[in-house]
Amino acid sequence: MEIPKFDAVEKTRFNDVTWVIEIPSTNTALLERARQGALEGEVIIADLQTAGRGRRGRTWTAPAGTSLMMSILLRPPTESLPPSDASLATSALALAARNAVADLTDVNLEIKWPNDLVIDTPFDQHVEADIGYRKVAGILTETLIQDASVDALVIGIGINTGWGVVPAELRSIATSLDVLSGSSIDRSALALKILQNLEVEYTSLLHPNGKQQLLQEVRKHSGTLGKQVRVQLGTEPKIQQIVGRAVDLDEHGQLILETENNEVQVIAAGDVEHLRLDAR
Ligand code: BTN
Repeated sequence: MEIPKFDAVEKTRFNDVTWVIEIPSTNTALLERARQGALEGEVIIADLQTAGRGRRGRTWTAPAGTSLMMSILLRPPTESLPPSDASLATSALALAARNAVADLTDVNLEIKWPNDLVIDTPFDQHVEADIGYRKVAGILTETLIQDASVDALVIGIGINTGWGVVPAELRSIATSLDVLSGSSIDRSALALKILQNLEVEYTSLLHPNGKQQLLQEVRKHSGTLGKQVRVQLGTEPKIQQIVGRAVDLDEHGQLILETENNEVQVIAAGDVEHLRLDAR
């Protein structure tokens, strides 16, 4: 049975949850609320976005009701989370979502750096240039900075939950939780579990040893570490590519790469592709 939509999550900071049938983008709406002074803990969840946004200027589209699209407003205290560590709040959501999926289904997602959730898949010879994993969720974080501090973080997640079947044109790159688990996904139950998990991860992140603990958990569930990867840096027309082995995350969650010439590169932001041959 589906759990009803909720407007607050007990014993958490998420005490103002709004569900909308249609909206341009939950992130855009919540950013606007943040600019107007909305408090930490506001959440917007939509059935359909007409101008959904992804990382690096991409669009995020999904037919109505086929994914969980949720944005969350956080206002971390400056002394606990300076701008250089703000991306760790995004990692806290990635971990919370990954664990929520594992709690509610038998699907074990991995975190593809920086914050995609993917499923490792066996090589499929029927799929041209199979990459060996499929994306299930993506996260977009947007930050309002004031006086060199994080004034607000809007973290938006899109999780493919109810595709029924994977469209042919996406077969080599993405999939959905209902397809993976073989059963329908209750988006309300999933949203509730994610917010409950996020409360734990985020509260712990703000404690003195919290960053190290979070990074340990992220490393444990990382699908990127240990793999040969190609990283795309910059945006069109100035794109640069680096190939190397993903060896670790530094204390800010940045990716440490060892390149073919044994140089160490620290990557703050970019698009990562796991390279299949070395990956298995
Ligand atoms: C990515 O993989 O590029 C990130 C996708 C993030 C999509 C979510 S859906 C809810 C929220 N609102 C948006 O417009 N984007 C994020």
